[in-house]
Amino acid sequence: MRSAKISMPYFDILLDQLNSGEPSVQKVFGRHVHWGYWANPDEADGTVEDFAIAAENLCQRVYNAAAVQENDRLLDAGCGFGGTIASLNEQFQNLNMIGLNIDPRQLERARQQITPLANNKITFIEGDACQLPFDDNSLDTILAVECIFHFPSRELFFQEAQRVLRPGGHLGICDFVSTPIFKALQQFLAIFTNPMISGTFGRADSCVTLSDYRALAQKTGFQLASHEDITRQTLPTYPVVCRVFNHAGFSKAAQDVAAVEKISRVGLLHYLILSFKADLSL
Ligand SMILES: C[S@@+](CC[C@H](N)C(=O)[O-])C[C@H]1O[C@@H](n2cnc3c(N)ncnc32)[C@H](O)[C@@H]1O
Repeated sequence: MRSAKISMPYFDILLDQLNSGEPSVQKVFGRHVHWGYWANPDEADGTVEDFAIAAENLCQRVYNAAAVQENDRLLDAGCGFGGTIASLNEQFQNLNMIGLNIDPRQLERARQQITPLANNKITFIEGDACQLPFDDNSLDTILAVECIFHFPSRELFFQEAQRVLRPGGHLGICDFVSTPIFKALQQFLAIFTNPMISGTFGRADSCVTLSDYRALAQKTGFQLASHEDITRQTLPTYPVVCRVFNHAGFSKAAQDVAAVEKISRVGLLHYLILSFKADLSL
């Protein structure tokens, strides 16, 4: 089995654990590899079953923000194990869905997990979200669920998304978005923090603010259609994910996730769902 062209140590651990049948990793990360969304975070019960429901809720919130519709030709960029496509497959009919991932091991699992339902068409392809293998104006919707921080460049991804989306098409993402102060702090400390972060997550760039997203949209021909700060609704994620990583013997990942929790709780880092519309005038 070929491995990813980029380093993402946490996926090496997850794939090992899934291949060995570890039940808690299977529940928490077997379908989706992203944070959970609890409409009422006070009601989160800390179980892996509760987490799995919350993870499903999060992807639904992202694709609802992107106004997915029957008959769409849709790309899920950075599709993980295909969880968002699996969810869409269960909720919609007549979708033509493509999952793109840079990691062939994840694609293999996605292909094994998902069977098209309700006249949906599903294809998984290996590729880089910043070099999309599609014709101009050939897609209705693009999703990037909790993965844009891994991509080589947000700007390149937006340019590619603008090229391949039809005018009026939608792009829906969720991302960790910094306050301006935290962005400056990260840039100042990058020489120390980047090697630490890459030991768990690989490349993970959260040096982006909401104003940066507005500017990026304008520069690449998108309109920012909606943005929702769901930081509070994601907070019950952290103890569950820390526990799973600790149980898997990946204590460094657990420590790094705990650090993200602290930064989020003090309001320096926000978790946002954003949707954009490809400009009709271009
Ligand atoms: C946190 S996971 C999210 C996976 C999936 N979207 C989900 O929500 O379950 C990040 C994903 O981005 C993928 N990825 C990272 N860099 C990529 C790139 N340049 N192009 C395509 N996919 C990429 C990773 O392989 C991984 O599947």
